[in-house]
Amino acid sequence: MEYNEPSYIQSNRLTLRHFSKRDVESFYAYRSTPEVAKFQSWENYQYSDAEQFVEKQVQNKPNQPGTWFQFAVALTDTNQLIGDCALHTLLDEPRIVEIGFTIASEHQGKGYGSEAVRALLTYVFKTLGKHKIIAFTDVRNDHSIALLERVGFRREGHLLQNYMSKGKWIDEYQYSLLHSEWSL
Ligand SMILES: CC(C)(COP(=O)(O)OP(=O)(O)OC[C@H]1O[C@@H](n2cnc3c(N)ncnc32)[C@H](O)[C@@H]1OP(=O)(O)O)[C@@H](O)C(=O)NCCC(=O)NCCS
Repeated sequence: MEYNEPSYIQSNRLTLRHFSKRDVESFYAYRSTPEVAKFQSWENYQYSDAEQFVEKQVQNKPNQPGTWFQFAVALTDTNQLIGDCALHTLLDEPRIVEIGFTIASEHQGKGYGSEAVRALLTYVFKTLGKHKIIAFTDVRNDHSIALLERVGFRREGHLLQNYMSKGKWIDEYQYSLLHSEWSL
């Protein structure tokens, strides 16, 4: 299908593209779901938060040191937004990037999360030529841990009380994948 927004990479079923103002409704719908927010820092997500987030992402560019860029994950057949993948380019060492990922509840369990992250890995290593990708996950987030290990990440550390979520200090695992370890 024809896209109005720039697209970065495609997989079998998905396109990772720029966010568009038309995504606000779908983005708000999954971001405000308690199940999706369970292991994330936000709570009580408002429609105005979604509008501001999308507005910022419409103007953002990927691969800017010190910034987060959010790729919209869309079903290629319909251009429907079903989630997002984040790319944080580190300020002091931009050859290392951090990623994050979310898939709307009704689209989970179909392999879309790992398909989107595999596409992101190809973009990061092949197109951007990065050296290393890191990801942090709440130690209780079994789906996220399973996804990271499924696509080849290695557990590199257990970080005690590493972020504050919903009033509590939470342990995280740090996962990593070096360019030299990555295989398609
Ligand atoms: C983590 C998250 C992105 C995983 O999304 P997902 O799309 O379900 O993840 P996967 O691609 O790994 O899905 C794999 C599951 O789909 C199943 N599946 C069904 N059809 C499939 C297909 N065609 N290809 C691959 N897997 C398929 C797999 O068997 C697997 O099932 P299982 O979980 O019972 O083992 C999702 O749970 C989420 O958004 N959580 C909330 C946000 C969050 O916590 N993000 C992480 C922050 S670090």
